[in-house]
Amino acid sequence: MKILIHPTSEGAVKAAALQIADLLAARPEAVLGLATGGTMEPVYAALIDLVAEGQCRGDRFTSFNLDEYVGLSADHPQSYHHYMRRHLFDALGVPAAQTHLPAGDAPDLAAEAQRYEARIAAAGGIDLQLLGIGANGHIGFNEPSSSLASRTRVKTLTRSTVEANRRFFAEGEAVPVHALTMGIGTVMDARHILLLATGAGKARAVAGMAEGPVSAACPASILQMHPSVVLVCDRAAAADLR
Ligand code: F6R
Repeated sequence: MKILIHPTSEGAVKAAALQIADLLAARPEAVLGLATGGTMEPVYAALIDLVAEGQCRGDRFTSFNLDEYVGLSADHPQSYHHYMRRHLFDALGVPAAQTHLPAGDAPDLAAEAQRYEARIAAAGGIDLQLLGIGANGHIGFNEPSSSLASRTRVKTLTRSTVEANRRFFAEGEAVPVHALTMGIGTVMDARHILLLATGAGKARAVAGMAEGPVSAACPASILQMHPSVVLVCDRAAAADLR
């Protein structure tokens, strides 16, 4: 695992966006695995700027997102479908047919999970998987104790993850407690992985991921077994590294 520590979160975000732009400059039709959450918002803003500056094309890639909340339709303002259109896809003008997220409102979620896996395989697999990390070490919504070999499926979110997600929902609005998420095995199939962590709240998870034992107690720790991982973090998120 290559670990890049930047003094500021802005520097870490820019470095992550540049890695994506470098791939798209070399291979505009690359298959990207994408993530949502607060960490990724400035990354997508920086990537949009890089495309506008002409560093790479931003309308030819195919993408597969990690996850979607169960029960939310693509039009729900807090759905990850909506997030991706708002923060990235609309600004880049990427055709909708090239972007994929699991359908959290599918009537048969197990069938939807299988269909999603098949679509990733049909696209030739993921070239670069972008990941954030939960304070409890989750990747995608593979919470602690998830099988390290898991494939796309429904997961119940831990209470701490539901609480962390609450900030994106209006006061009094129900926060989903289930997500349809790529499994850890699905993530590990990506050819390259780029994990971005910023802020002191991620320090313990980052240390567990990079230096702890490989264990389902910290799902991200499985990345130690992947041949091509870059961890980009700011100094605050790197604080617990030895
Ligand atoms: C989002 C995802 C999650 C987030 C993680 C960190 O698609 O899969 O694993 O990356 O929960 O979220 P933030 O960036 O909001 O701290």
